[in-house]
Amino acid sequence: MNPNKALWEKGDFTQIAQTMRESGAALVAQLGITEGLKVLDLGCGDGTTAIPEAKLGATVLGVDIASNLVEAGNGRAKAEGLTNCTFQEGDATDLHDLKDQSFDLVVSIFGAMFAPKPFDVAREMVRVTRPGGRIVMGNWIPGDPTLVAQILKISSAYTPPPPEGFISPMLWGVESHVIERFEQAGVAKENITFLKDTFTFNTSYPPSEYVNKFKNYYGPTMNAFEAAEKNGKAVELQQELEVLFNSQNKSTDKNKTSISVNFLRVTITR
Ligand SMILES: C[S@@+](CC[C@H](N)C(=O)[O-])C[C@H]1O[C@@H](n2cnc3c(N)ncnc32)[C@H](O)[C@@H]1O
Repeated sequence: MNPNKALWEKGDFTQIAQTMRESGAALVAQLGITEGLKVLDLGCGDGTTAIPEAKLGATVLGVDIASNLVEAGNGRAKAEGLTNCTFQEGDATDLHDLKDQSFDLVVSIFGAMFAPKPFDVAREMVRVTRPGGRIVMGNWIPGDPTLVAQILKISSAYTPPPPEGFISPMLWGVESHVIERFEQAGVAKENITFLKDTFTFNTSYPPSEYVNKFKNYYGPTMNAFEAAEKNGKAVELQQELEVLFNSQNKSTDKNKTSISVNFLRVTITR
């Protein structure tokens, strides 16, 4: 089994995705989507951004490596009555089912960054984008003080070191790496722009319950808990995460959670 696929099919990412809908739709509203635009949403999950893209009239193909998320995405599109939004399984490192220059816009919000072989990912995104088209990526930022980088920092203290040669997905949040990867795919540096943006996770339950959602449903955090459990440290991991989630929570309602996270928005024009 491909470990990248196994990681994201583990648990149920839709439980986390449900807390990302508002910012997902707000981000899509800024992408200049017009009726009939051909959009590829790569690493689409269950459609947090793909569904709003389709609602704005784009013809959307969502591609994701996790079969359970593809199924969930197709279920959501059907429930919304969207006939212009389909989801299919695929790997961002090798989009062999997709023709060259076939999309006006390729969107990947916290998606393609999680695929291995980042140079292949950049090459594939560029290949399927038509000349004059755009690629928009949202990438978490390594070492950032906000939630996602801090979850990673805490979790990594409880897990064995990654295998030799492992390339951290978080490097997609570093401008110099993004430039190097897209330049190698044939994009001129002048055609790459960066924007520091924020994405807000909202829940209708308190931060401690949100930690439990990550613990029980989010593949990377599930793995951290499994490793911590083996060393008798699961309680410590839980406590550290609860302190983190509580400290980042901006909601004034104690029964809710609202956490804003910084990310790097990358736009490439072909
Ligand atoms: C953090 S989730 C984000 C999902 C969605 N874009 C969102 O904003 O809700 C990362 C997604 O990337 C997908 N993914 C990871 N590696 C991938 C790969 N090699 N090819 C395609 N999708 C991949 C995962 O299955 C997962 O759905």
